[in-house]
Amino acid sequence: MDHEVLRPMASSRPAAPLSGRIAVPGDKSISHRALMFGALAVGETRITGLLTGEDVLRTAAAMRALGAEVTHDPDGTWRVAGRGVGGLTEPANVLDMGNSGTAARLLCGILASHPIFSVMTGDASLRRRPMRRVTDPLTATGARFVSRAGGLLPLAIEGAREALPLEYRVPVPSAQVKSAVLLAGLNARGTTRVEEPEATRDHTENMLRHFGATVQVETAGAGRVITLRGQPELRAADVVVPGDPSSASFPLVAALLVPGSSVTILSVGLNPLRTGLLLTLQEMGAAVAVTNPRVEGGEPVGDLVVTAGALRGVEVPPERAPTMIDEYPVLAVAAAGAIGTTRMRGLKELRVKESDRLAGTATMLSENGIRVEIDGDDLIVHGTGAGAAPAGGAPVGGAMVRTELDHRIAMPALVLGLITEQPVRIDDAGIINTSFPGFAALMGQLGATMVDI
Ligand code: S3P
Repeated sequence: MDHEVLRPMASSRPAAPLSGRIAVPGDKSISHRALMFGALAVGETRITGLLTGEDVLRTAAAMRALGAEVTHDPDGTWRVAGRGVGGLTEPANVLDMGNSGTAARLLCGILASHPIFSVMTGDASLRRRPMRRVTDPLTATGARFVSRAGGLLPLAIEGAREALPLEYRVPVPSAQVKSAVLLAGLNARGTTRVEEPEATRDHTENMLRHFGATVQVETAGAGRVITLRGQPELRAADVVVPGDPSSASFPLVAALLVPGSSVTILSVGLNPLRTGLLLTLQEMGAAVAVTNPRVEGGEPVGDLVVTAGALRGVEVPPERAPTMIDEYPVLAVAAAGAIGTTRMRGLKELRVKESDRLAGTATMLSENGIRVEIDGDDLIVHGTGAGAAPAGGAPVGGAMVRTELDHRIAMPALVLGLITEQPVRIDDAGIINTSFPGFAALMGQLGATMVDI
């Protein structure tokens, strides 16, 4: 899991259109939360469709280290025997959250309001990522955090004996920060109030309710105010995890770009705070239809029917960023195949993802012969028109893309290789296992060629 041995991979233009019906792995955000809430509830929580990527397995291991029982059946159902709110116990060793910012930041919230000592670390990517965005507000609970310079992991946490409830206005649009404050509030006496200036994914709020907490959500302009009554008794609840829309984005864009393709992606989560990419692709002229819409486990779900066709460049407004924050690299690949220029505005948060994803996306494209610019916090991609219904020459490709421990650079680069003249290579396909185990094999089922080199 430490990626000391790199696994290079290449993708190239398929001989035939992509076709088939696939399901992508479970939603990463919901999977982390299901394990955490299960650990904080009384009774046994059963989870179906849990993502078994490395990030989520780190959360499972952390919940075990904190005293919850986490097991799985041969049929893939996961079971969590919880300890109740405030019931987690001191871990005997360092908690290693691997590559996962969500696991680390949400866990900081939980640990802040447990009277226990813990130490958290992560891989080289996570050890570069800002943690003050959670430790600063969480300090007001009474918890103490001691970190490396700049607030970086490893981090020692002395949880509050009796946590105080927080009132906090999240300064950056971040579901992780909002969730950390709410999770701390679970074991604080009194009401926790979080205000977010822009609405971000609301899986924590939904799951709090699902496990029996009293939560109120009010809209305030473009944002929301969430209030949570502290120290509820959370009751175990079954969770059905939908397919991850962020993972679906890769076969989706591949099917749009490879001429003649027709692909169905089954059971994709369609929470409206996650569907900015779909909207943007539709504005670009993409033929993506949602069929069989339904609600599963409290989340909207549907099947995506995707047909290849010409895409046009568009301007993506900054206020859409929270609903598609993880999808910009693959949107940039779609834009590279489109006719005309795409400008994606307001991408500041991309600089603090698993890598500097704004720079990484631009480098991935430019090294493969696509014209890109970074203008402040905007990314501008000059389309080649090389996608389906080609109106231009294919980009040359041929580069070895440095993934920098970032799965969401690795997968878009492999999608790009499906439309370039020369194969596109990545230095490490191992990192893809953090969120999408079996990615290359699943793409292979559709007819895409992605091979170890
Ligand atoms: C996530 C929130 C987002 C997203 C990440 C998952 C979550 O991060 O990029 O992949 O599950 O809450 P930020 O909160 O930093 O925007």
